[in-house]
Amino acid sequence: MDYDTIEYHPGFGQVKSAEYCHANGIVVEARSPLGSGGVLRNGELNMIAGKYKKSAAQICIRWLLQKNIVPLPKSTHEKYITENADVFDFSLSEEDMAAIDRIPYCGGMMFDPDSARS
Ligand SMILES: NC(=O)c1ccc[n+]([C@@H]2O[C@H](COP(=O)([O-])OP(=O)(O)OC[C@H]3O[C@@H](n4cnc5c(N)ncnc54)[C@H](OP(=O)(O)O)[C@@H]3O)[C@@H](O)[C@H]2O)c1
Repeated sequence: MDYDTIEYHPGFGQVKSAEYCHANGIVVEARSPLGSGGVLRNGELNMIAGKYKKSAAQICIRWLLQKNIVPLPKSTHEKYITENADVFDFSLSEEDMAAIDRIPYCGGMMFDPDSARS
């Protein structure tokens, strides 16, 4: 099975790339799904997290799963690793998914594929 790894998190949704992959049977894997940690301070995200009694990190991960995108979060803390896997007992509403879609850039690496150099 083909897969593609792209940066994807609230504030940096590469929608067209994901749509292309999904339309062509390619699994999309999100790197920096928590915006390298920066996204976790976003006010809107924390407001939604409070509503579901979940952390901002869990909201990011759940948002990706509901978009059929595989999240690849990184943590050096056992507590966070466990927390990041505990995302299968709730669903984000369509309204909250759309609200997260509208979050402006607030963290991450944000490599523009058209201008990034190796
Ligand atoms: N292929 C590529 O070019 C490429 C590029 C970038 C990243 N990646 C890969 O993508 C993965 C993730 O990327 P990333 O490191 O940018 O970041 P990320 O997963 O978006 O964010 C990691 C940061 O969030 C913190 N964190 C994790 N879970 C948390 C939680 N539940 N609550 C609060 N803070 C939490 C981590 O802290 P602690 O570590 O202190 O716990 C760390 O500072 C990595 O495996 C990386 O190797 C690949």
